[in-house]
Amino acid sequence: MNIENCLFGVALSAGQCEGAYLEDGKGLSIIDTMDQSKDRCYRRHPYPKEGVYYPSHEASDFYHYMEADLEMMHELGAQCFRTSFAWTRIFPHGDDAQINKKGIAFYDRLIDRCIAYQIEPIITLSHLEIPYDLYERYGGWEDRRFADCFVRYAKVILDHFHDRVTYFITFNEINCAIHFPYVVGVGVDRSIEPSTTMYQAMHHMFVANAEIIAYAKQRYPHLEIGCMSAVGPIYPLTPHPQDVLKAKRKERENLFASDVLVNGKYPYYTDAMFQDLDVTLTVSAEDRQLLEENRIDFLAVSYYNTNCETASENRETSSGNLFGGVKNPYLHATQWGWQIDPTGLRILLNDLSERYQGFPLMIVENGIGANDSFEDGKIHDQYRIDYLKAHLDEVEKAIEDGAELWAYTMWSFIDIISASGGQMSKRYGLVYVDRDDEGNGTNQRYRKDSFYFYQEYLKNIKKRKDTL
Ligand code: BG6
Repeated sequence: MNIENCLFGVALSAGQCEGAYLEDGKGLSIIDTMDQSKDRCYRRHPYPKEGVYYPSHEASDFYHYMEADLEMMHELGAQCFRTSFAWTRIFPHGDDAQINKKGIAFYDRLIDRCIAYQIEPIITLSHLEIPYDLYERYGGWEDRRFADCFVRYAKVILDHFHDRVTYFITFNEINCAIHFPYVVGVGVDRSIEPSTTMYQAMHHMFVANAEIIAYAKQRYPHLEIGCMSAVGPIYPLTPHPQDVLKAKRKERENLFASDVLVNGKYPYYTDAMFQDLDVTLTVSAEDRQLLEENRIDFLAVSYYNTNCETASENRETSSGNLFGGVKNPYLHATQWGWQIDPTGLRILLNDLSERYQGFPLMIVENGIGANDSFEDGKIHDQYRIDYLKAHLDEVEKAIEDGAELWAYTMWSFIDIISASGGQMSKRYGLVYVDRDDEGNGTNQRYRKDSFYFYQEYLKNIKKRKDTL
């Protein structure tokens, strides 16, 4: 594997960028019921109320800017585009008798644009766009019927797009089921310790993933179907064996989902882990066989930060994507306290390659959320350039180390609403969207300095590819 074989591009998700939350027949997703309260990811939300601001309702208005945004993506030189389809645009209530044709038409236009620009689409089937109505009726993934509805939706997408889309990711951060259950449609509060309900729900996601792979294998064997998990190395704070042990335990929890997905079976430590957590899982022999026979073709991961662990009570905590940990004295953090660790990305790619014997990987999210300042149409985001450059250097080194990396998609292409806080001001984009946390603004797009940096980088990669 060399760097020229890896696709470099950008990423977005429907629920965080599209807006148009009820337009053209779309139904309500869970994210559309989430206001901007600090605990928005931690609790169940009622149906949207008058007078409350819901950031996803308009988001970055990608639904109406899609053509112009993709033209800019082409100008950037992106080789691939990872985004999601909203289940609620296709089946507004999750299990409608009829397909919403206008929803399909929107994604048809999106995919056709990608193809015209030679941008390889990488499509996630579920990324924060869980049908609210279905969730209210069934209570979430812990009910197997919920998973059946997802498989039905996925089959519709494969049937319709298999000739134009090669790469599908069934779930964004499948391990969210344990960390932010409500957000992904699991019917329990996060304040409860990992519970049987959460793991049972995740089991149903594993089963849905396997059923989708089985369907694809039978009908569309050229497709590459992956799944995504949020991972990041966990370092022991000190070489004290108790710290090392603690870090290993945490890492196990972290890699549990990918162990199941890659190996097609529950790992050897499952019983011990479940005993510690007081979890009892129901898994039939048929399910086990299904998982075993239908493993993912590639593992997609998001990478934002690393954390430490210690057995000592005396610790300083740090935040991070999905879960925090203990602060690393050698690292700086973003304005949101996520520790910046480019070397951690090389470590992660090496760790995964070792653990899964050179298994194909994709980094489908990596970026920095920052409060950008906008002056006269310019955004001088040197910190984002530094972040990107440092991480891309480590990606190159990891490939030289031997990692089989199929794609790297930077998070995010345009500014979008933050998943955890719902703010627009936690900006991830290469392109600034004129919109604030209260929903004011023109939605006009402005290229940030980081856009031009990445454009140069992509040009270089292309040159190297062309000379091969
Ligand atoms: C990942 C999600 O967990 O982290 C994205 O897949 C999210 O949807 C990203 O945007 C960054 O998190 P946040 O909360 O800063 O938006």
